[in-house]
Amino acid sequence: EDVSAYGSGSRDLVETLNETGKKALVLFGSQTGTAEDYAHKFAKEFQSRFGVPTMCADLADYDYDNFDKIASEVSGFKMVFFFTATYGEGDPTDNALDFFDYLDNDCEDLSGLKFACFGLGNSTYEFYNATGKRTSKTLKSKNAKQIGELGLGDDGMATMDEDYLAWKDSMFAVLKNTLKLDEKELEYEPSMEVSENDTLTKESPEVALGEPDSRYVNINNDGTKAEFFDHTHPFLAPVVFSKELCPKRHCIHVELDLSNSNIKYLTGDHLAIWPSNPDSKVTKFVEALGLEDKKDHVIDIKSLDPTVRCEIPTPTTYAAVIRYYLEISGPVSRQFVKSVVQFSPDEETKQRVETISNDKSLFQKEITDKGFNVADALLSLSNGAKWNTLPFAFIIESIAHIQPRYYSISSSSLYDKEKVHATVMVEANDVPNTTRMTTGVCSNLIFDLEVKQNHVTDVKPYENYDLDGPRGKFSKFKLPVHVRRSTFKLPSNSNTPVIMVGPGTGVAPFRGFIRERVKQAENGDKGGKMILFYGCRRSTDDYLYKDEWPEYAKTLGGDLKIVTAFSRETAKKVYVQHKMLEHSKEIFDLLEKGAFFYVCGDASRMARDVQKALTSIIAKENNVSAEDAADIVKDLKVENRYQEDVW
Ligand code: 2AM
Repeated sequence: EDVSAYGSGSRDLVETLNETGKKALVLFGSQTGTAEDYAHKFAKEFQSRFGVPTMCADLADYDYDNFDKIASEVSGFKMVFFFTATYGEGDPTDNALDFFDYLDNDCEDLSGLKFACFGLGNSTYEFYNATGKRTSKTLKSKNAKQIGELGLGDDGMATMDEDYLAWKDSMFAVLKNTLKLDEKELEYEPSMEVSENDTLTKESPEVALGEPDSRYVNINNDGTKAEFFDHTHPFLAPVVFSKELCPKRHCIHVELDLSNSNIKYLTGDHLAIWPSNPDSKVTKFVEALGLEDKKDHVIDIKSLDPTVRCEIPTPTTYAAVIRYYLEISGPVSRQFVKSVVQFSPDEETKQRVETISNDKSLFQKEITDKGFNVADALLSLSNGAKWNTLPFAFIIESIAHIQPRYYSISSSSLYDKEKVHATVMVEANDVPNTTRMTTGVCSNLIFDLEVKQNHVTDVKPYENYDLDGPRGKFSKFKLPVHVRRSTFKLPSNSNTPVIMVGPGTGVAPFRGFIRERVKQAENGDKGGKMILFYGCRRSTDDYLYKDEWPEYAKTLGGDLKIVTAFSRETAKKVYVQHKMLEHSKEIFDLLEKGAFFYVCGDASRMARDVQKALTSIIAKENNVSAEDAADIVKDLKVENRYQEDVW
């Protein structure tokens, strides 16, 4: 077991709650950190609002064999809150699998236990919030009592934050009555302490400056450092090659060398890249907090609550925390702005923060529509006055910590063995009616790296990053990475035909699939037919890997067919699904021969439109009703012959 719970160091929930004196529990099932982030905020606010000592924990950190005894064996125990995200095809997140296994197979009776649940999902996917619903339903079926309504947060409609705030407000109102809790004046109760260390300097070797190998140190039983790399311990991989695929929109192809790690990937897996913040964002954040003179000062971070872990290595510096650990570039939430009222640098600011954060539409207009991140919002709300009133511990506790960004791997583990490729569209969008721009943290880091690696002098990246990394450890271009397994896989039999639909960067895994079949063909293994439906705006602008496809066709011959849809070359838009309809008979014949069908790319519209197109193809060619065709598509999904990798 490599995961051990914090607190008492035990995996025993009842024991940990008793030893730490906690009377409420917040458990999260999180894949990319969003549910975790909401869970922490909720736990914190619940505790300070009602004075109930609350523990927030990862579902994977505890055993559940005595979960049914919490209510009876933890004296004064109030209730448990779940924050469960839905992942993939309506599945629980990896860290929640054991818990659901317990609920389904080992749990008998939970009478006496009170719970509430907030699910995190995406309504553009088929199984909207399946895990939140499952949490609530299963717990109720075991006689646990649900308090308030099941909350459903929707990432698809970009309303997660507002969904959460609405659920939380109604939950607190219900809790006050049902649990008979006294509400206190909301006040920040730190669960960690940040103190300035005057004996060390930034040069001292024990000061962590953001090195990925000190991010989390995995220690084996014998005290040596564990040699594996995963989501808690990224590998610093050399970027051995990078190139611009389409200057018109900036899309970067990167190749990383994994040979000095023991990371093995499979074709179709995901590559996680850990970004850091660009110079401009770090500078602005430092400015907003009035930390200009102190940014390189060494600080110690200490947890004041045995059940709260701070994964930021310490001692460190303000600047290192800001650059490597805090999610400071994204849009600021209304929840965050609400929480800083109490720290307003002056009375006028306080009034403004209160007014704006309590008014949804005003917040939208003054903050969200302007594309403001945390620092932009703070400085704008205070009219430029410094927020040196904001405790740094509060910042660490309230701002989400940087999570890796996931990319569908565009290489084949058979063809490219120790190298992994990613295809990264650079995110940079003008904010309407302003001169401002919002930029994606990770894609712009890779863009900056490409420009500097290839000495492209006439292209200017949108952002500048510290590519040398802490203590120069990233020099010669390296990125912290790990690999995440996916179920998006070629059929095990290479003779099975495949139909692939991947517009835009959705083409990434299919490049991997095609390279895999090329390698197999080179090894004398004649594979089945492959059709790729690819779409982009213009053949001259953003046609990714345009020059590579003919190369693959040299080996695969007639077994590889690329069908393109250029959406902006004709008066009427042409999309991949239109092209599918033109190839209706061919698609159907291949399905009859057992073909696997794959979709990768945009989840919100494309994946749905493609499924509709496939359904109508089956209805037409098989001469069945739309309902029957829809059932056939469902069956394909159940048989794993219809796979999606969408985002
Ligand atoms: P558009 O931007 O011209 O509308 C890759 O992004 C390609 O996918 C682009 O050509 C884009 O076209 C296209 N696209 C946009 N919406 C789509 C949808 N609903 N289905 C399929 N392709 C779509």
